[in-house]
Amino acid sequence: MCAGLGHTRPKDANEMTVSKPLSLVGKTAPEIRASVEPPLVRMRRLRRSEGMRTLVRENVLTTADLILPMFVEEDISERQPIKSMPGVFRETEKSIITAVKDAGKAGVKSVMLFGVSHHKDDHGTDSLKADGLMARMIRNVKDACPDMIVMADACFCEYTDHGHCGPLDDQGHVMNDLTLENLAIQAVVAADAGADIIAPSGMMDGMVSAIRSALDENGHEDIAILSYAAKYASAFYGPFRDAAGCSLKNGDRKTHQMDPANSDEAMREVALDLDEGADMVMVKPGLPYLDIIHRVKTEFHVPTFAYNVSGEFAMLKFAAQAGALDYDRALMEMLMAFKRAGADGILTYAAVDAARQLTK
Ligand code: PBG
Repeated sequence: MCAGLGHTRPKDANEMTVSKPLSLVGKTAPEIRASVEPPLVRMRRLRRSEGMRTLVRENVLTTADLILPMFVEEDISERQPIKSMPGVFRETEKSIITAVKDAGKAGVKSVMLFGVSHHKDDHGTDSLKADGLMARMIRNVKDACPDMIVMADACFCEYTDHGHCGPLDDQGHVMNDLTLENLAIQAVVAADAGADIIAPSGMMDGMVSAIRSALDENGHEDIAILSYAAKYASAFYGPFRDAAGCSLKNGDRKTHQMDPANSDEAMREVALDLDEGADMVMVKPGLPYLDIIHRVKTEFHVPTFAYNVSGEFAMLKFAAQAGALDYDRALMEMLMAFKRAGADGILTYAAVDAARQLTK
């Protein structure tokens, strides 16, 4: 039954001729045409040409929006391709310099560095040393490319032997407050090495205030904090864990990272981090959480970043490799979606590809 039409939907064309006529049945085609009113508003007026489309475009993506995450592995002689992330490498401590310079030439203005450690222990102490991998890679990149904004991912999972984001208690859960003490040291080490921005990604309670006070007490009051404020316990980090060599031997990150079902909780996380002194906040992953990015931007009006994570990059790359979609076009559409949602910047492994398209 089609509610409201007062007749039974005909089962086939024969039946149609004998059923109760619709109002137009019996009119000629020209009469039917004549009854169509021309639209008053024509949205297509503003879409007629590239010039018109550009004139009314609401959002723009520029190279300044792009942040390139990069991997640096110690004790290797040649850079290693990452199987699950086609086109992405674990750079050597030498090749990272060339890679950052190349990214800069393509137009990328910021990078986020991740270490792939060969000196792991239960606390991730290598990252607390002034001559550890984390400090070295930041110092070397910043010295070679002083104009590049260098962000330090402040976490321990790349430096712990169990792969968790801090030391574990008897049940295998990350110990929050001990991790804060370690984070305070790690942040000072990264800032001393020249990092422009400290980006804590471990979702520990109180991480922003612990880092803020340590930075302030050590002469780094001008170093900004970009908090991974709303980071979800996500399946989309799969390729990263493979790339950074930080797959978990046991357990998961659900006791500190967020439940993908929650949205209000993300607003609370952001509010707390801003209260603790975060200068910028991040939502991660990106594409499956565009609603969160939009809420953060509209509710807090602060610099809001999106992390287009490894799994999102892999989906795009492998779909393109299979011939299912056009990589360049799909990439730009994806990045624009982040801008439309309200992001001020996007961390993406495709930053160089995007920058090349934007400056072509
Ligand atoms: C943790 C960290 C992770 C990512 C960035 N920082 C992994 C995790 O939380 O498990 C994932 C990034 C990506 O998937 O691209 N230091």
